[in-house]
Amino acid sequence: MDSPGTPLISRRDALIAGAAAAAAVSSTAPAAAAPAPASAAAVPLMKLSLSVNGQARTLELDTRVTLLDALREHLRLTGTKKGCDHGQCGACTVIVDGRRINACLTLAVMHEGAQVTTIEGLGTPQRMHPMQAAFVKHDGYQCGYCTPGQICSAVSVLDEIKRGVPSHVSADLTARPLLSAEELRERMSGNICRCGAYSNIVDAMTEVAGSRT
Ligand code: FES
Ligand code: FES
Repeated sequence: MDSPGTPLISRRDALIAGAAAAAAVSSTAPAAAAPAPASAAAVPLMKLSLSVNGQARTLELDTRVTLLDALREHLRLTGTKKGCDHGQCGACTVIVDGRRINACLTLAVMHEGAQVTTIEGLGTPQRMHPMQAAFVKHDGYQCGYCTPGQICSAVSVLDEIKRGVPSHVSADLTARPLLSAEELRERMSGNICRCGAYSNIVDAMTEVAGSRT
């Protein structure tokens, strides 16, 4: 008689039985649809011509490549940063046909013939754009990771205000927007700075705009 602690079936027998059952099922079940292997020939490529920082550029890209990856990985313009890659941080902000956009949220092939300006096109260390110089003067950065996006955004914000584009905090949608700190903060709210350089960024923008907060 088996003692209470003695198993009725050994572990080895259980493994053999399990393997035999699995083999039986696999031999009778219909073959599961295996995912088709990705074929290089199936990658959809498209030619793209655009102007980047005043230079004509032609690329042949997978149609799924974002403008951000086209700039960074294909044109080697790594000044534009990838933060979230989901439209939430603003690190990838560039100026396309005079409007700031998140380059991670748009496909490169949607911009045939566009004029793209990145941080490299605004200025150089030797010849800085006034906004770049103001960021340096006012310590508008610490680690600098968000800074290219902040500067592209800041340049566009002043242009938007000049063109009379209202924001969510503009009291009068028909009046010329104010160059107030509240307006600047609202308009820059899509550009996140983990170092918290926000007030210095507003100071830099205010100086470039030629007014005081
Ligand atoms: S990387 Fe584009 S918004 Fe964050
Ligand atoms: S300067 Fe570091 S994230 Fe903005």
